[in-house]
Amino acid sequence: MKIIGTGSALPEKVVTNEMLAGFLDTSDSWITSRTGIHTRHLLSTETLSELAITAAQSAIESSGLQPEEIDYLICSNVANSYVSPSMGSILLAPLGLCCPCFDLNGACAGLIYSLDIADAFIKTGKAKKILIVAAEEPSRFCNWHERETSVLFGDGASALVVTEGEGFKNFRLTGDTHTDVLYYKRSLEVTPYDRVEEKTMPLVMNGREVFKLAVRACIKDVDIILEKNGLTGEDIDLYLLHQANLRIIDSIREHLGQPKEKFPTNLQKYGNTSSASIGILIDELSRAGELKDGATLLLSAFGGGFVTGATILKWSTINYPEKKEE
Ligand code: ACO
Repeated sequence: MKIIGTGSALPEKVVTNEMLAGFLDTSDSWITSRTGIHTRHLLSTETLSELAITAAQSAIESSGLQPEEIDYLICSNVANSYVSPSMGSILLAPLGLCCPCFDLNGACAGLIYSLDIADAFIKTGKAKKILIVAAEEPSRFCNWHERETSVLFGDGASALVVTEGEGFKNFRLTGDTHTDVLYYKRSLEVTPYDRVEEKTMPLVMNGREVFKLAVRACIKDVDIILEKNGLTGEDIDLYLLHQANLRIIDSIREHLGQPKEKFPTNLQKYGNTSSASIGILIDELSRAGELKDGATLLLSAFGGGFVTGATILKWSTINYPEKKEE
């Protein structure tokens, strides 16, 4: 499997740390020193599906395919305002797609889980041209009267078109139960048989525990996937890690003993956009010409569950329509 198209979209509203300090007991220096985040884009006038459509349209356009050639849509999303229909179903008609679709909740590792499934579909011949959309609005899970979680997240969408090719090597996915360290619960209707009231519980996170779990899991995934492919840290040109926290990325980089330039980041601008984050990074780097043809990339992500995913791929240059015009 290889990537032949990329896209991303962010909400227009940019929220700085200073703006948050205007109504939360926090400060730019606390947020910057603990996370590296300076600003985030938050949904205000747009909807998440509008962002997802914009990201998907630019991924399809850059792939050179017509929408009707896409034969599967996988949508990575933790939650949105609809429980049913799926976000994938909501996106089909506006994108001009006529294919099977489903949503996948792999938390912040959802894009890598989606890529793994797409790879299996392509290998088994179930589908040939797959659109993966990762669209997330974590800002809508947070309690905005509390400073612990709301400062960490941003909203956004990314999309990739994948097809047969020699790009991806293999995947490592993991899962484990740590429900108490990171969760978001929705309300449930009471029934004549179950009258236990389940109220919405905004995102709860034990930051220190998540930090430790994330660093440990990510380091293990990176070590194992390198070994699986007979590679060392030096063989990787760029490490594209889940954009949650600069300190998590720095800890992994220090473990690997690799230079900072190999770990591009954009969390400073966007905060943690959950499963959309790695796709946004890929799209931005690719459009900026920073992903060289033949470059070896390592993707690694972790998220609520606890689930993790990592993969290695050789990049093939994408010719974006804007570049052709230059
Ligand atoms: N502003 C100011 N103070 C704050 C804020 C804030 N926004 N949030 C918490 N604090 C306070 C706490 O109340 C606590 O105070 P106390 O010591 O008086 O009890 C103190 O700051 C905690 O400080 P530290 O222990 O130094 O914080 P830490 O260095 O652990 O950083 C953070 C906290 C940023 C949450 C860190 O633990 C972290 O990044 N964890 C991982 C978060 C993450 O990546 N989550 C997402 C991963 S999974 C996914 O993507 C869904």
